Amino acid sequence: MNLNMQGLKGIVTGGSRGIGRAVMENFLAEDMKLATCARGKAALDEAANTWSSSTYPVFTKPFDVTDNSAYEAWFKEAIEHLGGLDVLVSNVSTLESKEGIDRWKNRFEVDLMQHIKLTELALPYLKKSASPSIVFVASIASVMINNSPSELEYGAIKAALTSYAMKLANQLGQFNIRVNVVSPGPIVHKNGHWDLMKNKQPEFYNKVASLSAFNRLGSPEEVANPITFLSSPRASHITGTNLRVDGATVKTVNF
Ligand SMILES: NC(=O)c1ccc[n+]([C@@H]2O[C@H](COP(=O)([O-])OP(=O)(O)OC[C@H]3O[C@@H](n4cnc5c(N)ncnc54)[C@H](OP(=O)(O)O)[C@@H]3O)[C@@H](O)[C@H]2O)c1
Repeated sequence: MNLNMQGLKGIVTGGSRGIGRAVMENFLAEDMKLATCARGKAALDEAANTWSSSTYPVFTKPFDVTDNSAYEAWFKEAIEHLGGLDVLVSNVSTLESKEGIDRWKNRFEVDLMQHIKLTELALPYLKKSASPSIVFVASIASVMINNSPSELEYGAIKAALTSYAMKLANQLGQFNIRVNVVSPGPIVHKNGHWDLMKNKQPEFYNKVASLSAFNRLGSPEEVANPITFLSSPRASHITGTNLRVDGATVKTVNF
């Protein structure tokens, strides 16, 4: 199926590794015009290097999404580079290192507020697009109650993000803007959370794998593929959906 994405203008946050990078690579294979960001300059430069033969040059700039003025400046530059916006994939999350109430504050900023901030910045441009779409990357941690205690705030904040997205989908239908959520299960990739766990706590890693119907974790590409479809004009009647990509790790009927 031709996804009809050629020349569409897209922003993917957190494109330097993992799921965000796999989405970038899918979008580049569709010949889209793209912008992305991350904090780490070296990883962003390394990724940009591998994209240097793409049809359109990719705009990359390192900054922290919790820095409001840096976010606004990056967004402005990204829009100037792209000449508009059709497709937004709001993907950034962070490996949490803070403790106590600061964990909640940081999760609130990184896993909720910055997605909302980005959406507010993007809406005037998406309203002008002929094929506008937003995908938020959430997590099945929103509905799991038996995962690690350190994910208490992660799951709760991702649940808020998902609820926000579903309400937004209904509000933005009048502008033809589609809003969907993709909720991955555990995904393993180099230097990601589960790659570290595989080495540090192999028993726990294997237990998590066993929760999936396939007895394994997923890959970034397996999440990027449905994100790509949902972002494409081919998904024109899909909005307000939360798609689990978890190999049936969540054991409920998803009516
Ligand atoms: N991997 C999983 O098992 C899993 C499961 C469920 C849901 N998810 C969700 O899927 C999404 C992607 O996960 P992933 O595993 O691919 O994540 P990842 O490997 O940690 O990559 C996150 C990306 O975001 C960037 N980033 C992180 N914090 C940032 C900040 N404060 N400002 C700017 N950029 C920042 C990272 O680069 P820098 O670190 O250099 O900034 C990186 O490019 C996240 O929303 C995550 O919650 C993942």
